[in-house]
Amino acid sequence: MLKIGMIGAGRMGNLHKSKLVTRDDVAITAVCDVIEDRALRMAREVGAKTYCDYIEMLDNEELDAVYINTPTITHPEMVKEVTRRKKHLFLEKPLALDLKVAFEMKKQVEESGIICTVGHMYRYRETVRQMLQLLAGKPVAMLNAYWYWTIPPVPHIADKDIGGGPVVDQIVHLIDLCRLAAGEVDTVKASYTLNCRKDEDFNNWDGYAVNLTFKGGAVASVTGTLALYKEMGTQTFMENIVLDIAAKDIMTRFTPKALQVFTPNKVEIIDTPAGDIDHVFVDAVKANDPGMIKCLIGDAIKTLAVTLAANHSAQTGQIVKMDDFIYERLNTLL
Ligand SMILES: NC(=O)c1ccc[n+]([C@@H]2O[C@H](COP(=O)([O-])OP(=O)(O)OC[C@H]3O[C@@H](n4cnc5c(N)ncnc54)[C@H](O)[C@@H]3O)[C@@H](O)[C@H]2O)c1
Repeated sequence: MLKIGMIGAGRMGNLHKSKLVTRDDVAITAVCDVIEDRALRMAREVGAKTYCDYIEMLDNEELDAVYINTPTITHPEMVKEVTRRKKHLFLEKPLALDLKVAFEMKKQVEESGIICTVGHMYRYRETVRQMLQLLAGKPVAMLNAYWYWTIPPVPHIADKDIGGGPVVDQIVHLIDLCRLAAGEVDTVKASYTLNCRKDEDFNNWDGYAVNLTFKGGAVASVTGTLALYKEMGTQTFMENIVLDIAAKDIMTRFTPKALQVFTPNKVEIIDTPAGDIDHVFVDAVKANDPGMIKCLIGDAIKTLAVTLAANHSAQTGQIVKMDDFIYERLNTLL
């Protein structure tokens, strides 16, 4: 039985819990949240011990793996403590809000020898696997992605100074998929605005547009908004998260619901729901096989770097050359 400790019993903590409880080879034996009620509620559901201090949890529980589902600014200290104790780790994205800090986290994870996935869940989808297989070996010309949303429902994400803003926190998933399909990013030019919600108590951008060029020759436009209304989540006809990829004689359209494939003779819809990050993480830990992990921290940091470069570009008005941006901060390349 794999013993798991949960740090953070909010939205993502509960989402991961809902998948872990479907397995009979896993037990969530400890739950920690600074909001005691949340920890208690989840602990009661799964029969776990409750903590409000994660250090106390790590010191007192014999855990095989730990989930970090807390606000991004808490991730660096937690990763230090978890890797010091060599517990396998599920770490929610984004890693951190600073590239140098994220680089330290990467070193800690890699030196500890643990199995770790970062929470880029789309990478684990069967539809993404098939999309990449269909595009393999074909030069990509263009990627066009968007994520339309409302005010983020949790305060630490709604505030850009705590969550990093929507490109670092949310569009990061789409930029991550762009990297998988088109390779490493060469340059980033971003423009953000606060135009609809400027009279509200809202410390964030509500429109953002990021242009990327890739070393392999592709170009991408990734846009999004937080200007919309919260009811949009129930409007099932709205495709609010989309990634189109045009390669030679093929176009793919990824949405979280399905993959559409357009080729000269047919249009195919692939909507197999298979592929789940939590199940693969548990299986990888049980098999002690890091090869099963589809989002290693060394890869996640490259995606994070692109999003931080986008914030830098939006704030300075500059076109950011990725290698320079990384080297200036780390004295090395990723
Ligand atoms: N993979 C995804 O698609 C996805 C989606 C949403 C959020 N996230 C990420 O997941 C993380 C959590 O986001 P969320 O939406 O679940 O937030 P949330 O606010 O719903 O949950 C976070 C929980 O962590 C608790 N917490 C805060 N500090 C803590 C500490 N020091 N020790 C223990 N508990 C603490 C809070 O009380 C809260 O219950 C963030 O990094 C966010 O960016 C990922």
